[in-house]
Amino acid sequence: MAEKLLEVRNLKKYFKVKNGYLHAVDNVNFFINKGETLGVVGESGCGKSTTGRVVLRLLEATDGEILFEGKNIRTFNKSQLRDLRKEMQIVFQDPYASLNPRMTVSEIIAEPLLIHKLVKNKQELDKKVASLMSTVGLAERLYNAYPHELDGGRRQRIGIARALAVNPKFIVCDEPVSALDVSIQAQILNLMQDLQEEFGLTYMFITHDLSVVKHISDNIAVMYLGQLVELAPAKELFKNPLHPYTKALLSAIPVPSIKHKKERILLKGEITSPINPQPGCRFAKRCPHATDACTKQDSTLREISPGHFVACDCLEVIK
Ligand SMILES: Nc1ncnc2c1ncn2[C@@H]1O[C@H](COP(=O)(O)OP(=O)(O)OP(=O)(O)O)[C@@H](O)[C@H]1O
Ligand SMILES: [Mg+2]
Repeated sequence: MAEKLLEVRNLKKYFKVKNGYLHAVDNVNFFINKGETLGVVGESGCGKSTTGRVVLRLLEATDGEILFEGKNIRTFNKSQLRDLRKEMQIVFQDPYASLNPRMTVSEIIAEPLLIHKLVKNKQELDKKVASLMSTVGLAERLYNAYPHELDGGRRQRIGIARALAVNPKFIVCDEPVSALDVSIQAQILNLMQDLQEEFGLTYMFITHDLSVVKHISDNIAVMYLGQLVELAPAKELFKNPLHPYTKALLSAIPVPSIKHKKERILLKGEITSPINPQPGCRFAKRCPHATDACTKQDSTLREISPGHFVACDCLEVIK
C-alpha cells in the first residue's frame, strides 16, 4: 500500500491586511504519497505558493496540521526544524532572482552543503559539487561561471542542484518551468522526472498551467480562492472533471486537433474577495449552476469515486 509522506489537515493561512484578514489558504486538506507528485493548479492569487510555503514552514500556518512522515511539524522546535530543512526543499520559478549573482555556479551549489555541514573538507566538497552538477546536466566548464552568463534552463538546473544537495525527500516545485521557453520546459520536466525516479523524491508541483502537470502528476489538486475544489488522479481529472471551475480551467487548454475542438467555458461574474469572505462556495458568483444554497455554507471535499474528491454541493443537480 502507498505510504503518505505528507498530509495537511484543515490548513489555514490568513494574512492580516488593512481591512481584515485575507484568507490565502482556507481549510485545505490533501496528502501526497511517497515517491509521487501532487500537481497544484489554479489561477493567479488562489493560494498555491502560500500553501507550498506554509507546508515547508517558511511561513507559519494560522491553523491546521502538517504531518510529515506522520509527525506534526507545526510543533517542531528550532533544532527539529533545522533537521527538517534537509528533508524538505523548494525550487522557485525564477532561478535568477533566487540565485546570488555574485557567486559562481559551484559556490551556489556548495552553499547548502556548507550550511548543513554535509562535507568534511574541501576535497569532498569539490567532489560533491561536481557530482551534483553532473546529476542535473550542467557541464564541468560552467564550474566558475556566474548565473547571468547562463540561460534560464541552466539557471534552473542550478536551483535544482541546490535543492538536491541536502538529499531531500520532498521538494515543493513552485512554477519551476513557467519562466522558460517551451522547448526548455520539456527538458527540465524530464530531468525532474528522472531525478524523482533515481532518488525516490516526492514532489508538490505548483503551476497555473494544467498542461504542464498533466503528464508528471499522480494526483492533481485544483485550488480556487484559497480552497481546494477538486482532487483526483491526473488521468481521471482530465477525463472526468466534476467541479464547474475545473471544467472551465480544462476548457481553456488549447487542443491541437480541430476534430476534438472543445467549447471554451467563459467565466462571467464577480470574483469573490479573499478578504473576510462570507461563508459559502467561493466560486458561486461565477458558477453557471449556482443556487441560493451554494452561498449559505462552505462546501467540503467529498469522495465521489475512489480517490476523486470534489467540493461542490450541487454536483448531483449539475449531472
Ligand atoms: N505576505 C502577504 N501578505 C498579504 N497577502 C498576501 C501575502 N502573500 C500572499 N498574499 C495574498 O494571498 C493570496 C494567495 O497568494 P499566492 O501567492 O499564494 O497565490 P498563487 O496561487 O501562488 O498565485 P500566482 O499564480 O500568481 O503565483 C493572494 O491574494 C495574495 O495577494
Ligand atoms: Mg505563486
